[in-house]
Amino acid sequence: MEYQEIVSRSKNVLSIEPKPIPEEKLSEIRDKYVKRNKKSLEMFEKAKNCIPGGVEHNLSQNHPFPLAMDRAKGYRVWDVDGNEYLDYLMCGAPIMLGHSYSPLDEKIIEIIREKGPATGLTCEYELLAAEEIVKNLPGVDLVRFLQSGTEADMAALRIARAYTGKKKIIKIGGSYHGWSDQMVYSLHVPGSGPLYSKGITPESYAHIVDVKPNDFDGLEKAFKENAEDLAAAIVEPVGGESGAHPVHPDWNKTMRELCDRHKALLIFDEVVTAFRLDMGGAQKYFNIMPDITVLGKIIGHGYPSCGAVAGRREVMSVCHGSLGNKIYVGGTLAANPITTAACYYALKFMAEQDAVKKATDYADRLTKAMNDLFATRPDLGFFVYNFGPIMQYVTTGFFSVDIAAPDALKQVLTRKAVADNYQIVTSSEGLCSLAGTRMYSCMQHDDEALNKTLGIWEHLLSLIPKG
Ligand SMILES: Cc1ncc(COP(=O)(O)O)c(C=O)c1O
Repeated sequence: MEYQEIVSRSKNVLSIEPKPIPEEKLSEIRDKYVKRNKKSLEMFEKAKNCIPGGVEHNLSQNHPFPLAMDRAKGYRVWDVDGNEYLDYLMCGAPIMLGHSYSPLDEKIIEIIREKGPATGLTCEYELLAAEEIVKNLPGVDLVRFLQSGTEADMAALRIARAYTGKKKIIKIGGSYHGWSDQMVYSLHVPGSGPLYSKGITPESYAHIVDVKPNDFDGLEKAFKENAEDLAAAIVEPVGGESGAHPVHPDWNKTMRELCDRHKALLIFDEVVTAFRLDMGGAQKYFNIMPDITVLGKIIGHGYPSCGAVAGRREVMSVCHGSLGNKIYVGGTLAANPITTAACYYALKFMAEQDAVKKATDYADRLTKAMNDLFATRPDLGFFVYNFGPIMQYVTTGFFSVDIAAPDALKQVLTRKAVADNYQIVTSSEGLCSLAGTRMYSCMQHDDEALNKTLGIWEHLLSLIPKG
């Protein structure tokens, strides 16, 4: 779907009052949820005694309580009560080959059996994995492994500041670059500033310059006003929250030009997009080369714990050298044999299997089929769009509420509450998505998955009164 169409359809959704499922139906649905998820509920009750709030995963479906998962295979996951789900969470994006992909698992089991999990020293797979990343990503000469996307984002900012000798960083509102003190600013909802920054000192984000997504004038102004001290601009190249705030087709190009003009570095956070959107990442997909690339969970294909900061040779050179000239990063378990072998083999298998193309073809087909289905209910305005195997669906549009509107918070909360109830339905019918707005596909999703998925959405639509 073209950018302008996404914008106008989003506006349309926001002009429609969110349509709740009638209360009597909803209470039946809630009862069903409790009955079919007894063990999950039991676990949740126990977890509350030893885990704050009883749940640790931000991507969990928490409403009315989180589901505990037992196992995963291909595009399916099963919870502890034995319920089966069509999985579109895909562990938050990294699974491209399908869950528990045997050829990959066999390699890892062999390594654990024959070599052990980690020595804290350099291993062969570290080199093989780094070579594989460099081979695929056109903007990358050197790679430094870390242990999470959050760490890699932190390192990227440090590298940019060390290389340029400047302090400020442009961040686009609504985008996610991990949970470090400086990046938890204007999170999820563009323009929300320190809404999520409890426990963080304002000094930590004092050098973050917040720009609204696709606000070309605001961007130009931010560059001009901060040019003297601007180290970098950091972006999710498909737009914030993996495209929930989709990028204008000229946005990344403009970013690159402005960075060049003002001698700042461009950082692409490719935690989700590298090896999912394209084996060459968003940098190849958009043909825009960043100076620094941030990588995360995707390079371990679900194996813990991984991240990497990568980029141009000259820029990355601040990661080595003599005391006083190099930046400090660390991580005892970074670049361990399990994670780096998972990276090496996963990338090899993905290329061999043409995984990105298969997952993209499926997402294209599902997106079209869902839009055809949603067209039967123009009163709702629901729609889906995709960047390759990253599908974003919009039901109540809580993500796109204008934070400057006088009733913004009320709008977000009301729209979110209605969407949460939709998600109880889709989940009870066997669909696992991300945050009630996103679906990731893998290379194994097939016609059966597509038809079942459509059936679940059709069922949801039948529960929402017409008109
Ligand atoms: C774009 C982006 N950057 C950074 C991160 C943080 O990665 P991690 O959860 O490994 O810290 C995420 C996580 O979802 C992400 O989507």
